[in-house]
Amino acid sequence: MTQVLLPIEIDRYAEKYTTAESEALAALNRETHIKVELPVMLSGKLQGGFLSMISHMLKPKMVLEIGTYTGYSAICLAQGLTDEGHLHTIDINEELQDMCFRYFCKAGLEKKITQHIGKAAEIIPDINEQFDLVFIDADKQNYHLYYDMVFDKVPVGGFILADNVLYNGEVVLPDAEQSKNAKAMHAFNEKVKADNRVEHVLLPVRDGIMMVRKIKN
Ligand SMILES: C[S@@+](CC[C@H](N)C(=O)[O-])C[C@H]1O[C@@H](n2cnc3c(N)ncnc32)[C@H](O)[C@@H]1O
Repeated sequence: MTQVLLPIEIDRYAEKYTTAESEALAALNRETHIKVELPVMLSGKLQGGFLSMISHMLKPKMVLEIGTYTGYSAICLAQGLTDEGHLHTIDINEELQDMCFRYFCKAGLEKKITQHIGKAAEIIPDINEQFDLVFIDADKQNYHLYYDMVFDKVPVGGFILADNVLYNGEVVLPDAEQSKNAKAMHAFNEKVKADNRVEHVLLPVRDGIMMVRKIKN
């Protein structure tokens, strides 16, 4: 089941009035739920639709995703790329690489997406690009590090999105009741709030998406 903070009937209603998944995304969603551990990690129809919409609005030339999993959000984020545009996606888990590629092909996006396998912190410095859009969706303890690592690779006017920043609502619990990951998400939200180089909005979509726009270096 997808991680949602909204009442379930509101979430279902929002999904109902969101464009249906493409054939490739629907099949990927299904296969992930049948065969892969932790399908809750997949973005899903509503968040995926949101990411796709953002991609179409920005028409980015270059996108970086940190946390590929089975490739659902990568496909959504790649949908609005310019003709020459490209998406780089990083994941530590090599076991899902072939499955991702199969679905990138099914979506007709295999030439527009490069998969990197390994620890994001080791791979990010080696991707010598500027990114109009970065999506952070990997290990929660390192969001602060990924934010710092990508910041200079994003031009003024570019965007950084970070997923799971409400961490199942735990971020509003008293400190002693928060899990380690919820504490990390809360610290990340505080870090963004204190950064005067950006404007930001925390959207309570699914598990919370922090949208950051860089306004100065
Ligand atoms: C929440 S899932 C990503 C979901 C995907 N973005 C989507 O929306 O369908 C998080 C992914 O981060 C990966 N990950 C965890 N630690 C990582 C690290 N240090 N470097 C790169 N990837 C990592 C995991 O293997 C997992 O596939």
